[in-house]
Amino acid sequence: MSAAVPPRVDPGRGLSLRVTSKTPAADGVVALTLTDPTGARLPDWTPGSHIDLILPSGESRQYSLCGDRWDAHTYRVGVLREPGGRGGSAWIHDELAVGDLVGIGGPRNRFGLVPSSRYLFVAGGIGITPLLPMIAAADRLGTDWRLVYGGRTRGSMAFIDELAGHRDRVSVLPQDEHGLLPLADLLAEVDADTRVYCCGPAPLLDAVDDACAHLPSQALRTERFAAREQGAPVRDTPFTVALGRTGTEVEVTPDITVLEAVRSAGVEVLSSCREGTCGTCETTVLAGDLDHRDSILDEDGRAAGDCMFVCVSRSRGDRLVLDL
Ligand code: FES
Repeated sequence: MSAAVPPRVDPGRGLSLRVTSKTPAADGVVALTLTDPTGARLPDWTPGSHIDLILPSGESRQYSLCGDRWDAHTYRVGVLREPGGRGGSAWIHDELAVGDLVGIGGPRNRFGLVPSSRYLFVAGGIGITPLLPMIAAADRLGTDWRLVYGGRTRGSMAFIDELAGHRDRVSVLPQDEHGLLPLADLLAEVDADTRVYCCGPAPLLDAVDDACAHLPSQALRTERFAAREQGAPVRDTPFTVALGRTGTEVEVTPDITVLEAVRSAGVEVLSSCREGTCGTCETTVLAGDLDHRDSILDEDGRAAGDCMFVCVSRSRGDRLVLDL
């Protein structure tokens, strides 16, 4: 066991769980299982959910739950070591040990599985993780599904062994053996009754986005681990945020986020990634014209205009009213 990890969890934010196993799942990927140290049941979750792992610095990283959704006592996540990352995955790989306690936030789900008669799952690398419980759910329901799973090499692709039993529903296509995934052909065959769920690196998601242009917007659901490139904000002048519950008003200047402005008014909003990918800071919008800058909402979600991710999104107009 390594030095005890302080379970730095924001008050009311989450749990402190024990690492009960840490095993290699592929080259550069470890699978962690986490349980409550008292043996208590863990909060329920649905396929597509993620949790925050709280680092000793107090920062957090988000990882998809990829274990058995019906096991009420265990969470499992798969963690890819990211050599160019900010150090979170390196700490998990190198320092976090079986027996340690680690702070957890969530679970939350911004990538839920909606009912459908058919699914096409497209995974790139570690993007397989949120799709594993979706596959289990689809299988349990007897729904028609297919998985196309790409990665650099076979050795770098996690959880392949768990997919072997599904035989021809699963296509494992390492790039060094098969080249890039044949997305154009694959998605040209998709009909309007199929939901496409895709998770992986940004170039894969962008390519799938393009290849799904002929489908209704709700046909494709993606989850990004990294923020989508955004242009400049629509507005480069200050705007006002009114807090609907208290009537307080704060000014948001171009150099600060709505999250920072709201916090400066003494209102706490939970946040995690602060780059518009995790969904933690989702806030209900009561009025205003939004400049959505997150990597979460689809076209319909943006058009609805009733929520925003205050760590990145802003206003187009002079004033927003938030349910805070
Ligand atoms: S903190 Fe992650 S989306 Fe805002």
